[in-house]
Amino acid sequence: MKKIGILGGGQLGRMLLQEAANYPVETWVMENDPACPAAHLCHHFIIGNIRSYEDVYQFGKQLDAITIEIEAVNVDALEQLEKEGVKVVPSPAALRIIKNKIVQKEFYQANGIPTAEFVTVTDKEGLKEHFAFLPAAQKLGEGGYDGKGVQLLHGEDEWHLGFDAPSVLEKKVAIDKEIAVLIGIDSKGNMAIYPPVEMVFDPQLNLLDYQIAPADLQDKTLWKIEAIALKLVKALGSAGLFAVELFIDKEGEVLVNEAAPRVHNSGHHTIEAHSSSQYDMLWRILLDYPLGSTAAILPSSLVNLIGEPEFSGDVRYEGLEEVLAMEDVYVHLYGKNQTKPGRKMGHVTILGKDRHDLVRKAHQVKRTLKVKS
Ligand SMILES: Nc1ncnc2c1ncn2[C@@H]1O[C@H](COP(=O)(O)OP(=O)(O)O)[C@@H](O)[C@H]1O
Ligand SMILES: [Mg+2]
Repeated sequence: MKKIGILGGGQLGRMLLQEAANYPVETWVMENDPACPAAHLCHHFIIGNIRSYEDVYQFGKQLDAITIEIEAVNVDALEQLEKEGVKVVPSPAALRIIKNKIVQKEFYQANGIPTAEFVTVTDKEGLKEHFAFLPAAQKLGEGGYDGKGVQLLHGEDEWHLGFDAPSVLEKKVAIDKEIAVLIGIDSKGNMAIYPPVEMVFDPQLNLLDYQIAPADLQDKTLWKIEAIALKLVKALGSAGLFAVELFIDKEGEVLVNEAAPRVHNSGHHTIEAHSSSQYDMLWRILLDYPLGSTAAILPSSLVNLIGEPEFSGDVRYEGLEEVLAMEDVYVHLYGKNQTKPGRKMGHVTILGKDRHDLVRKAHQVKRTLKVKS
């Protein structure tokens, strides 16, 4: 049996492991927290620091293949492992490009991938040279996650809010829709693309409100999105499961926002709503099996379960029974014992033919199911 390791033990690793049970594979996870969501679902859990060269190298050298569920890992160690014959998915080179938002944007520019105009700054002082460029989104090169590390700066009076670190300053896009596309690509370069999903954001939290799939798009826009996302993933030149986030602006122009070289929050719905889920697809890629089918079984909506503001401590799910009693509604809890404001604690997928009904049920779930302590 192949030995395959995952760096990181969060919910993405957890859902990946849930799918691993269907394959002949021995699973390994490294993470520093033994109570993490993935810890008890793998064959071998190793306590270690995914940012440490030594820890990643020691973990990886006994494996046939290694993948990630978070970008903040030690890429130098992965590079060495790749040299020594371990299959690293995504490739360390692709990971290096995506891991840093500055390098990522420069990569798009160099490869003719449409993306919002940008400049780079090294610190807060450097922002002063670009007041004329505002309003813009400032994005930390590295270290941001879940909307932290990204902020809109509207004008020079907001300079004091600026991040004091290397970052991208990206022209504010007049967003009509936010779209995400998942693509699987195997070691031979075969590709499988999922239908785009539409993400509806909470303007206050800068966090996903709900998601709907497939996105409601004109054919022309759909083709543009697919062509751009495929071009991007091809240009990265790596096997793996990729998520590409895009904006459609008010003029109907398609721009790449960012990409992730791993299973992604915008692909949770594929567990119930598609023939092969993003997790299943990644195992096929890691194990050198044929790619799965991305065909949709039914349209879906998806709600993230986020820790309520003002509640911290032992988690309690309010309204869980009510939601579990709803038809075509699938609850996924991530097994985190402790909640805190804004923490991703689970998600709920809703299946159905009628888009109106999917949105209505998404709101019903949001109103009913609350993560408290
Ligand atoms: N250039 C931009 N113009 C307007 N809104 C933006 C821009 N860039 C990002 N945003 C908003 O901020 C959100 C988070 O930005 P993103 O770069 O995707 O960071 P994260 O890594 O947190 O997902 C986006 O989903 C979008 O709603
Ligand atoms: Mg994003």
